Amino acid sequence: MSNRPVPTINIGICGFGTVGQGVWKHLERARPALEARLGAKLVLARAAVRDLRKKRGVKIPAAKLTADALSIATDPNIAIVCELIGGTDLAREVTLAALSLGKIVVSANKALICAHGAEIFATARKHGGHFFFEASVAGGIPIIKALREGLVANRFTRIYGILNGTCNYILTQMEERNSPYAEVLGDAKRLGYAEADESLDVDGWDTAHKASVLTWLAHGLWVKTDRMLVEGISRITPADFRNAATLGFRIKLLAVITRDFTANELSVRVQPTLLPKANVLANVNGVFNAISVTGDVVGTTLYIGRGAGQDATASAVISDIADAVALISHGKGAHHMSDVVPGTGEASRLAPPERVRSRYYVRLSVKDQPGVLARVASVMARHHVSIASVIQNPSERDGAASLVLTTHESDERAIRATLKNLAGLASVLEVPLLLRIGDFND
Ligand code: NAP
Ligand code: HSE
Repeated sequence: MSNRPVPTINIGICGFGTVGQGVWKHLERARPALEARLGAKLVLARAAVRDLRKKRGVKIPAAKLTADALSIATDPNIAIVCELIGGTDLAREVTLAALSLGKIVVSANKALICAHGAEIFATARKHGGHFFFEASVAGGIPIIKALREGLVANRFTRIYGILNGTCNYILTQMEERNSPYAEVLGDAKRLGYAEADESLDVDGWDTAHKASVLTWLAHGLWVKTDRMLVEGISRITPADFRNAATLGFRIKLLAVITRDFTANELSVRVQPTLLPKANVLANVNGVFNAISVTGDVVGTTLYIGRGAGQDATASAVISDIADAVALISHGKGAHHMSDVVPGTGEASRLAPPERVRSRYYVRLSVKDQPGVLARVASVMARHHVSIASVIQNPSERDGAASLVLTTHESDERAIRATLKNLAGLASVLEVPLLLRIGDFND
């Protein structure tokens, strides 16, 4: 047995909400086992909140609470700083302050990484700090480690996945229970899945932030959301699930990252997508996330697990804390996989979004009159968009019908021009809904 004294490592938690309380609760419970495995004494030293008087499910000694998150980041006794506040302002300040002092920061904050990742990693490198972020993508699924470590031999041709638990919960409930969107969103908030600003979830931005993190890990390129196609789920109705089912599909909000290694082009997009019913991801429901990763060496691997919520996220944060403790025990100058510059080493560029090709699902609310279908078909023909199937359903509106068309493969430029023209027809009563058809079999 070694006679080395057992080091004491102080951990600070900035943000004691859904995730912060989960980390405290599970770390306290798992502490004896973790300490034995890691050979260090772990002390949950302090936590920062905005409102010191708020009642919390997880109790903590009042003396350990502060409203000054920066005082935790700069506390010389605290070696590991968990940033669980969210947002990109104070979270950035806390993160940079701790990294500038050579500390290890553990974060669940994908919005921060997407907006300021380059600056964060540069600061960590400059000052000998480290930044761990397993909880930032897909909640409890260890996808960051999988991409960075387990799949290091691979070049990734395609990564696609369900990365937002709130949206997957909403879509599942709408489909299974025929529940209205607003009611289901309320449930997702109560369950602690949704972001403080829920539009980040339902408008696709949270998925886009996570896609940005995965793109950087897989391809070494920072792609911000303004360079992606990003669409949300708020215009999808229960009727769309029924139409999709008739066509053999289910609807999922997907992030899709594809790389063409011949043209050296990368495409990153976030879109509600019709997936074949037989696709594994089409059957991943509720708060669960799932990611399909195709590498040139390994082939396709799949990852499924809870993508949001207190416990799943705490599990990922605690795995980073354990890595941080191990790193400190080996001497913080030691090499860690998070220090490796990610990507394949080959520069790639973003393909213009208008060139992305897909099959499409278009839902139109139209006047139920002779000649309308012919006019719609003529607009599509003008833009060389070929119709694959047509479903007409009665509409709740008097004198109206719901027309659902699927197309053969086309590109974004053609389909967008088509939709613009269709929206201008006197017989089209609402802005058309466009969904992509993802012909993914694995
Ligand atoms: P949350 O429940 O809203 O908690 C945020 C915490 O930050 C609260 O304790 C809040 O204090 C504190 N805070 C806010 N402003 C502060 C300030 N100015 N000074 C000090 N503390 C401040 O959020 P969450 O759901 O735990 O999410 C935290 C992070 O984890 C976010 O980046 C989120 O995107 C990410 N994440 C969340 C989940 C999830 O399922 N919830 C999953 C993965 C990643 P008060 O309690 O006093 O208001
Ligand atoms: N709001 C996010 C989601 C939290 O629902 O997936 C997990 O990142």
